[in-house]
Amino acid sequence: MLASLPQCQQRVEQFMTDALAVRSITDDKLLAAMRYSLLLGGKRVRPFLVYSVGQMLGANPADLDGPAAAIECLHTYSLIHDDLPAMDDDDLRRGKPTCHKAFDEATAILAGDALQALAFELLCSHPYQQVNLASQLELVKQLALHSGYNGMCGGQAIDLAHTDKAMTLAALENMHQLKTGALIETSVRFGWLCSGKTDENELTALITYARALGLAFQVQDDILDIEGDTATLGKPQGSDLEANKATYPKLLGLEAAKAKAQMLLAEAKDALSVLPYDTSELSAFAHYVIARSF
Ligand code: IPE
Ligand code: IPE
Ligand code: MG
Ligand code: MG
Ligand code: MG
Repeated sequence: MLASLPQCQQRVEQFMTDALAVRSITDDKLLAAMRYSLLLGGKRVRPFLVYSVGQMLGANPADLDGPAAAIECLHTYSLIHDDLPAMDDDDLRRGKPTCHKAFDEATAILAGDALQALAFELLCSHPYQQVNLASQLELVKQLALHSGYNGMCGGQAIDLAHTDKAMTLAALENMHQLKTGALIETSVRFGWLCSGKTDENELTALITYARALGLAFQVQDDILDIEGDTATLGKPQGSDLEANKATYPKLLGLEAAKAKAQMLLAEAKDALSVLPYDTSELSAFAHYVIARSF
């Protein structure tokens, strides 16, 4: 386990708990479903990246809270919808019944929708101290771009269209970059935008890191669908196999998928090597991503 991950988890969970508590939400059931999915579990790796990149670059920690919470709300919405019968049809998430099982399908759809809207609200309404207005607008734009038709949703559409179908390696990589890599990249961009840094070469290196990391994250997710166990994963092992999803192990075999993850780790670390900062935490995080068991 990465030493600084639990601190980030705690920090963003407190912030999100407070954010929901101060908002008056008219429907009790909708609020309960939002709380249920957002607050009861999850590794919080995207908030971790916001904090880790932001702090490495000298951002004000309090400025990072809004973007860290926003990306987690967006991600949680994507999980709620990913689990619906119309998509992956899974019953377990973060060690508990999925939102549509604990509540009902309509409530799960609305809780996802509302968490997506809340993500943008949190980004816009955060009391930033050292993030200028242009950067605040860029945060919103980056989330919109990477979560939408050419980002996470686009990747999910490709995923659904290729269930039971063959896929080339290039197409599979593109799908993974979109459905998972896009929000990982957004997290890194959030840390960067909150820092006020302007060196484009440094941004390029960070984006190269984020893309290798994002792809590695989904490759490991695919591997865990085969090698993990349901209790540890907190979601059903074998879900991809059962649904005949296009995954790295399915296309390449398990050993080649693991080799791919190692290659991506090397790529991620290589990208960090040009940065004039202490990148040890981001490097450790890349190791964690492909060594994790859930
Ligand atoms: C699961 O994401 C979905 C993927 C993009 C692979 P995480 O593995 O980050 O899930 P939580 O947030 O920890 O539950
Ligand atoms: C995750 O894909 C992508 C998103 C939720 C956007 P998966 O379908 O592989 O995620 P898990 O395995 O259900 O967490
Ligand atoms: Mg899916
Ligand atoms: Mg799924
Ligand atoms: Mg998966």
